Amino acid sequence: MAALQVVLFLICSSFASAVFAATNDTSPHFNRTIFPEGFVFGASASAYQYEGAASEEGRRPSIWDTYTHKFPGGREVYEGYRLGRFQIVHFLVTDITLYNSICVTIFHWDLPQSLEDEYLGFLSPRIIDDYKDFAELCFKEFGDRVKHWATFNEPYIFTSGGYDGGATGNAPPGRCSNRSICAEGNSATEPYIVGHHMLIAHATAVKLYKEKYQSRLDVKAAQRALDFMYGWFIHPIVYGDYPRTMRSIVGDRLPKFTKEEEALVKGSLDYLGVNYYTAVANGVSIGKPTGVSYFNDYPKGLHDLLVYTKEKYRNPTIYILETGMTDGDKETKYAIDDVGRVSFYNGHIRAVHRAMKQGVNVKGFFAWSLLDNFEWHQVTLYDLGFAILTTRITLQEFPKSQLFGSRIS
Ligand SMILES: *[C@@H]1O[C@H](CO)[C@@H](O)[C@H](O)[C@H]1NC(C)=O
Ligand SMILES: *[C@@H]1O[C@H](CO)[C@@H](O)[C@H](O)[C@H]1NC(C)=O
Ligand SMILES: *[C@@H]1O[C@H](CO)[C@@H](O)[C@H](O)[C@H]1NC(C)=O
Repeated sequence: MAALQVVLFLICSSFASAVFAATNDTSPHFNRTIFPEGFVFGASASAYQYEGAASEEGRRPSIWDTYTHKFPGGREVYEGYRLGRFQIVHFLVTDITLYNSICVTIFHWDLPQSLEDEYLGFLSPRIIDDYKDFAELCFKEFGDRVKHWATFNEPYIFTSGGYDGGATGNAPPGRCSNRSICAEGNSATEPYIVGHHMLIAHATAVKLYKEKYQSRLDVKAAQRALDFMYGWFIHPIVYGDYPRTMRSIVGDRLPKFTKEEEALVKGSLDYLGVNYYTAVANGVSIGKPTGVSYFNDYPKGLHDLLVYTKEKYRNPTIYILETGMTDGDKETKYAIDDVGRVSFYNGHIRAVHRAMKQGVNVKGFFAWSLLDNFEWHQVTLYDLGFAILTTRITLQEFPKSQLFGSRIS
């Protein structure tokens, strides 16, 4: 499973003071001293989304490589750029001293194609052992340098996109009931089977880590629509079973945890990683418009989600692992001055701080993303980065706002 790539979360607290440095509405009046000692700020990055160079150095295909070949468009973008090797080995070995702390996600959607071919990947319980082996390899090889691990990135997006033609669009491995877009699959059953195997794989890795690795490391222990997106994965981990709404609506199609599985899954977390981008009411994204209609800027949604999580899920330790915006505009002065992004982060960091004052146990905030990158099936190089990147303009020529850009070089 060596081809499986990982996400790296860079923790660079110097970004934080940069965000708060200036003095008007687009550049807020507060600084990091309003957050407690030890609170971390950072920017996130993902190996597959940054690397390009899909077939070099013995790299074998993942389900994303297969998918982008089947639905070309993004492929040229992906293969055409190369930001550098964000592969875990290279990155950690050569650059680790640059960063004072690092968090790595073990699975970020790019399942090796060989496992999809051999036993249909996450549809098979065989994935649990393979995931466990891969997690163990990571713990063994990098456990001395990686302070925090995350097991799965956005399981809701992976299951709905990959097995249901998705709220967010069809995505690898491209299975669903609709035969005009998917050759195979069953949207009524497969998402639940895949979600179940992800939960068991997650809990198995957590158990392994706690029993065999954590003690040897200096690691700090870390209503319906919402239930179907969020509670689906958190509720079992906190309470040992799916939310009641899901059990009654999905009925027999929802796998049941055995007694042993329930005991394994329940409590299998040191912290909850939250990725938040936008909020939806009546099917429409609410808040201040950005360049992309379904990505409005709505900090209150993050605040409310954090308070909800505290109340509903026994006040877990939370890290915000991704949040960010795209303004759909790379090359104007507006994009380069980056006022929209400064205001977005101002609002969202304030929202986190408000939630913390209400007792939510947030320990860190990571921005998505360090650089503009290949945003999966969105095809183009979306501009979510602190630093601009296009096929025509180089980073050096066009840093974004001095507030961010000056800290990058
Ligand atoms: C904020 O500050 C920037 C840089 O000093 C300035 O260009 C901009 O006009 C200011 N905006 C407002 C709303 O005062
Ligand atoms: C940060 O804010 C505090 C409180 O407003 C202020 O006392 C301090 O001087 C500020 N620090 C910097 C580096 O701006
Ligand atoms: C199947 O997918 C096609 C293409 O995206 C879409 O137009 C159609 O509405 C879908 N059918 C159903 C039943 O969702």
